[in-house]
Amino acid sequence: MSLFRPHPLRSTLSALFLGTIAGAAFAQAPAMSVGDLTIKHKIGQLQQSNTDAKTLAEIPEDLKAAIRASRVGSILNVGSPEVANELQRIAMTESEARIPLIFARDVIHGYRTIMPTPLGQAASWNAELVQAGARVAAVEASSMGIRWTFAPMIDISRDSRWGRITESFGEDPYLTSVMTVASVRGYQGDSLKDPTSIAATAKHFVGYGAAEGGRDYNVTYIPEPLLHNVYLPPFKAAVDAGVATIMTAFNELNGVPASAHDYAINTVLRGEFGFKGVIVSDWDSVLELVYHGYAEDKKQAALQALKAGMDIEMVSTTMQENLTALLDGGQVTEAELNAKVARILDLKHQLGLFEQPYTKGDPAKSILTPEHKKLSEELALESLVLLKNEKRTLPLAKNVKVALIGPLAHAAHDQLGSWVLDAKKQDSVTVLDAFRQAVGEDKLFYSQALYSSRSRDTKDFAQALEQANKADVIVFVGGEEAVLSGEAHSRADTRLPGAQEQLIRELKKTGKPLVVVVMAGRPLALNDVIDEMDALVMAWHPGTMGGPAIVRLLRGDAEPVGRLPVTWPKVTGQMPIYYNHPSSGRPASEGNFTQMDDFPLEAFQHSTGHKNHYIDIGFKPQFPFGYGLSYSSVQYSDIKLSKTAIGVDGELKVSAKITNTGSRPVTETAQLYIRDLVASSVRPVRELKSYQRLTLKPRESKRVTFTLRGEDLAYYNQKVEYVVEPGEFHVWIAPNAEEGLRADFIVR
Ligand code: NOJ
Repeated sequence: MSLFRPHPLRSTLSALFLGTIAGAAFAQAPAMSVGDLTIKHKIGQLQQSNTDAKTLAEIPEDLKAAIRASRVGSILNVGSPEVANELQRIAMTESEARIPLIFARDVIHGYRTIMPTPLGQAASWNAELVQAGARVAAVEASSMGIRWTFAPMIDISRDSRWGRITESFGEDPYLTSVMTVASVRGYQGDSLKDPTSIAATAKHFVGYGAAEGGRDYNVTYIPEPLLHNVYLPPFKAAVDAGVATIMTAFNELNGVPASAHDYAINTVLRGEFGFKGVIVSDWDSVLELVYHGYAEDKKQAALQALKAGMDIEMVSTTMQENLTALLDGGQVTEAELNAKVARILDLKHQLGLFEQPYTKGDPAKSILTPEHKKLSEELALESLVLLKNEKRTLPLAKNVKVALIGPLAHAAHDQLGSWVLDAKKQDSVTVLDAFRQAVGEDKLFYSQALYSSRSRDTKDFAQALEQANKADVIVFVGGEEAVLSGEAHSRADTRLPGAQEQLIRELKKTGKPLVVVVMAGRPLALNDVIDEMDALVMAWHPGTMGGPAIVRLLRGDAEPVGRLPVTWPKVTGQMPIYYNHPSSGRPASEGNFTQMDDFPLEAFQHSTGHKNHYIDIGFKPQFPFGYGLSYSSVQYSDIKLSKTAIGVDGELKVSAKITNTGSRPVTETAQLYIRDLVASSVRPVRELKSYQRLTLKPRESKRVTFTLRGEDLAYYNQKVEYVVEPGEFHVWIAPNAEEGLRADFIVR
């Protein structure tokens, strides 16, 4: 039996949305409304153009002409406030329609002060810090005249071959939604009118992260219930948080390119979610409808995108070129055009651009301030995940001699990661810089060993080993350079590139304890070398202040708190891999499968146990979602439920005692998972529903309590109805997706 229920967040959405967006826009008489514009000027608002001009001399004449003729409504990538102000001057004083331009840019994880990559930020599980990081980015970017960022990227990604996983918040819909809200709030502040606020963009709508084989821009097939249960929730959260704009994706989704996806945009985003903001295409993605073979020419592409709900076309000009004819031919009505223009003007009003079109920011006072750098360091610190720590190799003893080895130990550019258009590598503090500060030169022995993370040239290994032999402990910093992840940088083999595995083996042969710090855009397949490592820290690409954060953690001046926002595979061939997979009819478990090395010769086919696993790598990931160690030890005990049965509208409390059994302080992330045991669709083996971070002094215990509501158990069934199905549920309070304490309850 199932019970249809309205989406629980819908009423919150309406309240929030009306309060923040529509309310702000319509509360006062607009300085310019659609009715004041000619058809040509309306069409102009739908065009977003690109220029990289940094100086007035670099501004292309044809762009100036387009602005004068009011044929462009927004511009991305303007290279300086002077250029922004000059283009705006043309729009406000020389153009036909006198409508301010919006200047947009990809400010993805910081403008000049770079925070860890979004995947790293998600590893902090610290929404307040993530929000503060986005605020810093907004303050810096707005001081340069940028009032619109194309972030956050909230594509769920379950395959780290995909290079853009680094830009995402990982594989989980709940954690991604939490981070989405934090980041939208950070960028947009309390009001978009505040000159330090910038409009956020939730992207890419929708399913882009499900690219088949992890190959960027690849096809995606996502059945509708899965779309609703996994890929859409972060967009719903973004809409509820008042995100100003949403960007459509490049991918084809179930046969229809996302930028012309009538169902996804009109039915779900506009209809079900009630999104009233601006929809922008991705770069050329309207034109690409032709390349997909979905439109026969640019005119049809324009028509498809317009009908599917597109408001602004980024860079390509199919709508601009064809809209007059489409209006004349009656395929698009003026009322449809007016609705789009009204949304765009509304955004400009919300940003206060009619009153204050020019940037008056003071970059010198806003950019790279000590507070911003401090925040970058704190966020980097909380993003670090301690994955392995044999025999308490970490933290390092204070007077220990350190051999610092590896291609990313002093890689000012690469520690910044992907999408850092405005960063400068001279701002970065590297691991080497930070170690030099922390320990005397007589205790530090450095060797880069490899020219780059990709290098196969082993000529410097001898010198690296010499350095290693002088020290008490080796800290190897390697992984992937920034350019090995990000857009169009997918990898088919996600092991450490170049000769790094070989170097790690050589270093281990010295007999010294080996600490490995990985900087990378994705979890790397470390199966072949993980046994060589005494300790392992995942640092993602930690940003401007990555060095001090890492050194504080390694030396025990700070505690490790990060947790994986993504399941970490042993080998590339395990992907896609994610903890919240539906239950198999033949689930594998410890002891019921056979590794291929153990097959007797000429064994029978059934010798594997016929379970859901690989004969060469088993069924487990290297590290589960939610995993991360601390320098102390933590025990979960005494799980309690306030009730063992609730109605579909009911709620219960789940609590457990969490004890710091060690001698160092701990920040523990207690995670609440559920499983719906029998349902009308096969349900995931676990699903994250909430989490709490709690700090515990040595030997301190605290009881963590979660409220679980009937609506938290709802999901979209085969008929795409949002239902809570009565029956038996498991609930866990857990340190990660594989462990934890379980209790059971019933929904009646
Ligand atoms: C293409 C990327 O897919 C998108 O994320 C980005 O915002 C635009 N280019 C603009 O640079």
